[in-house]
Amino acid sequence: MDIINIHSNLYDYTVEFVNDFSGKLMKFDDSTTYIIDKNVYELYKEKFKELDKKKIFFVNAVESEKNMDTVMRIISFFQELGVRKNWSIVCFGGGITQDLTTIASNLFLRNVNWYFFPTTLLSMCDSCIGGKCGINYRHIKNQIGVFYPPKEIFVDTHFLNTLTKDDYINGWGEILKFSLTSDENFYDDLQKEEQYIPCPKIAEYIHRGLFEKKKIIEADEFESDLRRVLNYGHTFGHALEAYTNNRIPHGTAVIWGIDVVNYIAVTENLISEEYYLSIKNLIKNAFITEEIEIAEPNKLFEIIKTDKKVKGNVLSFAMLDKPSHLVVYPMTLDDKLRNLFCQYLEKTHEYYNH
Ligand SMILES: NC(=O)c1ccc[n+]([C@@H]2O[C@H](COP(=O)([O-])OP(=O)(O)OC[C@H]3O[C@@H](n4cnc5c(N)ncnc54)[C@H](O)[C@@H]3O)[C@@H](O)[C@H]2O)c1
Ligand SMILES: [Zn+2]
Repeated sequence: MDIINIHSNLYDYTVEFVNDFSGKLMKFDDSTTYIIDKNVYELYKEKFKELDKKKIFFVNAVESEKNMDTVMRIISFFQELGVRKNWSIVCFGGGITQDLTTIASNLFLRNVNWYFFPTTLLSMCDSCIGGKCGINYRHIKNQIGVFYPPKEIFVDTHFLNTLTKDDYINGWGEILKFSLTSDENFYDDLQKEEQYIPCPKIAEYIHRGLFEKKKIIEADEFESDLRRVLNYGHTFGHALEAYTNNRIPHGTAVIWGIDVVNYIAVTENLISEEYYLSIKNLIKNAFITEEIEIAEPNKLFEIIKTDKKVKGNVLSFAMLDKPSHLVVYPMTLDDKLRNLFCQYLEKTHEYYNH
């Protein structure tokens, strides 16, 4: 597959699809250090056997480790190893390992070049480009961050063979999001797909997802209005994650959030009921096969009110206003919206149980 070029105000960089990542390791000389998700290292040990273990920092990829303590441990590791400005930092892992590497490479010596081999579906189809990172601070997620893209990204989809179903769905959440905001062929193809987890055509969908994200970040690198469409499905999705104490994985939550906000878009006369139901059907067939029951809808709605993007009593939702087109749509968080949300839950209950 071809190479995707990403234009950035800092420097341009590339995403290359490779058949076997170990071939790419040869290009890194002795002046290289590695930051590797320890689960990935264990699973693919054979392929990493040429690497000097003393030069590897192993990441325990759990949210509670995505903090400044770990960043400082990585920086101490660089210092002890004698990493210099002309060295390369090579990262293997998903979004957690990526976020830690982004900030550590940016802060150390005011920046050292880094290279990324994403190993989860989410990091392959979405987070690997854009240069953004978020580090948790005092129990608040992604509070601290920088923009610092890798110099090159290498996608080897063989890594996906060992992902759990939840981690596979985490990537699908973003791919579904991109498919609904891209040309209609992307969504049509997803609808016709026969197997989603695992999906034999996943490389193609990763490629198309990245292409969509590329358009957005190139037009709006530093997160103003346009980039907010990347939040599609995420407002209700994040609230569901919080409501369930993260028992529901991010991808499932985002897909559910897409369904909720689509329902609101129908009631606001932005999209047709037929279009909403066609997406709902895909969601039910492919990703959320059983109803997500919300015992306390009011509690979930209260969480929405604490979203950091709320201004006054108004929250802007990324919403479809026609097929393949998103707008940023402000709504007052009042009883009317709360009732609409409850109505969505009732109708969805019928939909899943008829
Ligand atoms: N920087 C960004 O733009 C951005 C975007 C979205 C999400 N994120 C962040 O990414 C994080 C989520 O990342 P993620 O979903 O990519 O995964 P992750 O890094 O959270 O890893 C999830 C699990 O998968 C394991 N794993 C990784 N690769 C594997 C493989 N090939 N086979 C088997 N297991 C493997 C990890 O060890 C871990 O247990 C969150 O912290 C989120 O905030 C960042
Ligand atoms: Zn997401």
